Amino acid sequence: MATGKTVIAFDLYGTLLSTESIAHELAKLYGEEKAASIAALWRRYQLEYTWRITSMGDYRTFSEITRGSLTHALSEHGFELSAGKTDQLMQAYDFLHVFPEIPAALKLVRENSNLVDAYIFSNGTLEMVGTSVKSSPDLGPHASLFKSLITVDDVKCYKPAARVYEHLVKEAGKEGSKSDVWLVSGNPFDVVGAKSAGLKAAWIDRAGKGWVDRLDTLHVPSIIATGVEDAVKSILGWVKDAKARTKS
Ligand code: LAC
Repeated sequence: MATGKTVIAFDLYGTLLSTESIAHELAKLYGEEKAASIAALWRRYQLEYTWRITSMGDYRTFSEITRGSLTHALSEHGFELSAGKTDQLMQAYDFLHVFPEIPAALKLVRENSNLVDAYIFSNGTLEMVGTSVKSSPDLGPHASLFKSLITVDDVKCYKPAARVYEHLVKEAGKEGSKSDVWLVSGNPFDVVGAKSAGLKAAWIDRAGKGWVDRLDTLHVPSIIATGVEDAVKSILGWVKDAKARTKS
């Protein structure tokens, strides 16, 4: 349903939830050092698989992609896992921790719910995203803040295809006013995709290295923030300024 409010759509994995906490599960099996390297490669192949399958005009669910990319990352490290152990690692996705500033960021959204509507917007299936949100020890208590969970599974292709951002705009009731939709993401490819599709985007620069993505020099972040709380503050400032401008 269309409202006059600004939409803030939060990316899930790598933005609200830290996929690095998966390294702790991997460390139990392979030790700290290898775990960090497997976790990073797992995430890289997970994303690469989404881009490859979308380029092929085909689709597999994010759970299938996540499981396949885990096996790939492990094989490159010379490991094989039983189906049972793979299930155990996949379950780590149900208990991910949030980045430290997320509770304060979500409190800010709640306090300003007269101005903004919050959504989760993710590559995961509804089941995977719903479980990740509800079961996360520190995101679960905030689940009711989100108007809905919007996933690419409805359109059967992955970020950063333009269709997924069009789907977000439609589901958030913002057709015809997509510049009222903000994506908040720690993933540069997601930010460039949203900007290219006509949305606004705040990028979370967790490494503090600045914007280095050079795929597209036109579609750069509308805001660069050190964390999600900082991004929400800047978006609220933008919303208030825009309201003041339309009044004067
Ligand atoms: C997501 C991916 C980018 O949550 O991790 O959509």
